[in-house]
Amino acid sequence: MTVHAIIGGTGLTELDGLALRVAQRIETPYGEPSADILRGEFAGREVLFLARHGQPHRIPPHQVNYRANLWALKQAGAQAIIAVNAVGGIHAAMGTGHFCVPHQIIDYSYGRAHTFFEGDIEHVTHIDFSHPYDQALRERLIAALATEGVACSSHGVYGCTQGPRLETAAEIARMERDGCDIVGMTGMPEAALARELEIPYACLALVVNPAAGKSGGLISMAEIEAALAGGIGKARAVLARILG
Ligand code: HPA
Repeated sequence: MTVHAIIGGTGLTELDGLALRVAQRIETPYGEPSADILRGEFAGREVLFLARHGQPHRIPPHQVNYRANLWALKQAGAQAIIAVNAVGGIHAAMGTGHFCVPHQIIDYSYGRAHTFFEGDIEHVTHIDFSHPYDQALRERLIAALATEGVACSSHGVYGCTQGPRLETAAEIARMERDGCDIVGMTGMPEAALARELEIPYACLALVVNPAAGKSGGLISMAEIEAALAGGIGKARAVLARILG
């Protein structure tokens, strides 16, 4: 049976319901992953869990060691990855509390170690990345969201910014013109590294605030935390549904 890994983002540093069997600290050629990889049973299935920002949450998006995280998950036996990401909403449909299973991504981040194909390698490799997310995994996520009765968009373009600051209103307006529906800081290079390692990967995004300039006011951490508190239980139920 396929071993699924969950990468938990902001608000999901622990996976309630995971019957932990072992916490693995995995060394990689790229350094240390964000946290131990937790292996256990969740919804009756063997699952791996990694807290993207560390446990406790302490690593900002631009300092996550994405290469070490993906390498360690591969090493631990991950055969499919579901990434959970908190995002801002750009498209009008992406209100706070809404879920989105993006089908595309645009990378606005910079300066991140973003590939395994550099340094002492035998030949240059250009992976195909036309469709960054695994379609079968996306469809399972969308079905699980529907069964759970969770409001969700089955398509969306994720724009990945560098952070840790939030965007300006003009940056969001530009991203909207580019076709972005949601904005987050951790979608890349994670998705591309998974593809380089040939691990099917999909994203479950939870909208936790209207993106900059999309509401009358400023964006507060309090509003983001309240939205996370309201939405993470649903994300967990969806994960249990897809794995169970
Ligand atoms: N912008 C970028 N990343 C985010 C946001 C946002 O508005 N909300 C949650 N993650």
